Amino acid sequence: MNTYVSNLVAVRDVESLRSRIQAWRREGLSVALVPTMGALHKGHLTLMGRAQKMADRVVATIFVNPKQFGPNEDFAAYPRCESEDFEMLNGAGVHLLFAPDAAVMYPPGFATTVSVAGLTDVLDGAHRAGHFDGVATVVSKLLLQALPDIALFGEKDFQQLAVIKRVVADLNIPVDIIGVPTVRDADGLAMSSRNAYLTPDERALAPKLFAAITQAAAAISEGGDIQECIDTARAGILKAGFRSVDYVEARHAETLATLETAREPGRVLAAAHLGRARLIDNVAIPQR
Ligand code: PAJ
Repeated sequence: MNTYVSNLVAVRDVESLRSRIQAWRREGLSVALVPTMGALHKGHLTLMGRAQKMADRVVATIFVNPKQFGPNEDFAAYPRCESEDFEMLNGAGVHLLFAPDAAVMYPPGFATTVSVAGLTDVLDGAHRAGHFDGVATVVSKLLLQALPDIALFGEKDFQQLAVIKRVVADLNIPVDIIGVPTVRDADGLAMSSRNAYLTPDERALAPKLFAAITQAAAAISEGGDIQECIDTARAGILKAGFRSVDYVEARHAETLATLETAREPGRVLAAAHLGRARLIDNVAIPQR
């Protein structure tokens, strides 16, 4: 006999979210928050698993945040599959799902933007105007709504992680931000909700992005000229069949400043278009 037990509770308003979390707090339980935009995959579930190891209760959020999509981006097309997501979160042992409507997050009269200077001028920030304002604003709200002990974010979105750490430090939000390494398919492609946009042919060549930046990171680590290694990676991505490259860059892993030498902690980061998808990825430059 199949018996289906659902332990996961879904709430859609801030008061319900707060009252459940406060009840846990009164019992002395610690709370982890894992914000997502849904269309969940194993990368997201790895964040949930890590959260469970680090805290007594795990709260996931699903909100496709309109403020972080530009006018010509994929907000309307972004995959939405809440019932499958609910099953996945329930199966993963997540305790609470916060899935607000846009009207809950941005009621009439909403007028505040959290904007991080400097870090957001480069990389994705230079190609997606307003994107990180949208991310910083919604993540600030989610953290203040839930007030968790810890919140987990993927290194897959490396610049996003840096921006969120900056916001939390600058606004004294009392939460520890935990970065989780990128989860990949067997062929190296970083898992992403946007991989659903790829045709089978595009999917087959998509791992070339990871291959190219991994090779660049190794070559830089071995003393190669940084710009030459980056140029080789860019050429490799285009030769593999990507339509265009937004950027391939070597940057300091904490400040995101241009990397001067392989002795600094470094990261190679890239964004490129393949068919309908814009894929991003990044890897650490091995320290010798
Ligand atoms: P989303 O793309 O749904 O990702 C939610 C979280 O999962 C982010 O912290 C992201 O970095 C992480 N993640 C995605 N793919 C991953 C992978 N392959 N390995 C490890 N972690 C991965 O990022 C967002 O949503 C939004 O910008 C959000 C932070 C929720 C704000 O709206």
